[in-house]
Amino acid sequence: MSKQILILPGDGIGPEIVAEAVKVLEQANQQFGLGVELSYDELGGGAYDKYGVPLADETLERARQADAILLGAVGGPKWDTIDPALRPERGLLKIRSQLGLFGNLRPALLYPQLAAASSLKPEIVAGLDILIVRELTGGIYFGSPRENRVLENGERQAYDTLPYSESEIRRIAKVGFDMARVRSKKLCSVDKANVLASSQLWRTVVEEVAKDYPDVELSHMYVDNAAMQLVRAPKQFDVIVTDNMFGDILSDEASMLTGSIGMLPSASLDARNKGMYEPCHGSAPDIAGKGIANPLATILSVSMMLRYTFNQGAAADAIEQAVSVVLDQGLRTGDIWSEGCQKVGTREMGDAVVAALRNL
Ligand code: IPM
Ligand code: MG
Repeated sequence: MSKQILILPGDGIGPEIVAEAVKVLEQANQQFGLGVELSYDELGGGAYDKYGVPLADETLERARQADAILLGAVGGPKWDTIDPALRPERGLLKIRSQLGLFGNLRPALLYPQLAAASSLKPEIVAGLDILIVRELTGGIYFGSPRENRVLENGERQAYDTLPYSESEIRRIAKVGFDMARVRSKKLCSVDKANVLASSQLWRTVVEEVAKDYPDVELSHMYVDNAAMQLVRAPKQFDVIVTDNMFGDILSDEASMLTGSIGMLPSASLDARNKGMYEPCHGSAPDIAGKGIANPLATILSVSMMLRYTFNQGAAADAIEQAVSVVLDQGLRTGDIWSEGCQKVGTREMGDAVVAALRNL
């Protein structure tokens, strides 16, 4: 049975990095007989330009029909001044929520070849391998009411709402425990239970779920402390489970430990492991069109797709190995470059991964 993959290159560097990831996917397709079929559409600013909205109904329908989605990145200064309800980011939030992609996996893995590119000392980050499990369809990103208003005294006020229901917490906690179970059996739940009611419920429910996972060691940490511990002693963490906004912030922080946000893939999964796969980084409008963006996060997102949605572990391993080979060869895009390495552009990096995959 063929596997339908919807490709949404998006804005900024999105199309450049996705083109390289697609080459790698096509090579893996040939080599491993995956039977993938690709189709393309727009999401974000490009969709706004084409359809007048950041996520068109027909695109959403195509995404529903697809088995998996590969996304580049969305947003850019061109759309900063449009109606906030039509901003590119709203398209991303809508597709996550409409497809029920609540389980966001953001691995922060340090490739030993890149230890010098980390902003932390090599001994602090050597061997780093963290998985952040971020809740992606609830919390303050989607809570209502949210409003901009003018108070009686004439002052402007805006507010958001941070709701979490028991079922939302339980299902993401299970993802966290399941991931911990197949890794080093340690789960740290990050919240702000000393202040927020939503976090107090979060903690209670996570503890209830823990009863089904006696083999996993659970700890809790406040988010401010977690932000500090991530740069102080990041290797104390294995799997972190946290809410939508905390996960957004901590995953950017964790990514930098690995040298560059340009290395980090992500998977956003529904209850049946259908997923959307995208790099953790944004659309980087400042370098768009220059051919210098790092395509590895998107290439590694393809590997996650093969692993989680299509159960093609061997093909996924091969892509990760090919990336490692290319790093061993000393090829680096600007963001991960260090003295003694060969600086390459987006396309050369993609071609090198394809060649390494072919030669495995
Ligand atoms: C991310 C991004 C998005 C988010 C933005 C673009 C809406 O920062 O995927 O981490 O906040 O979730
Ligand atoms: Mg983010």
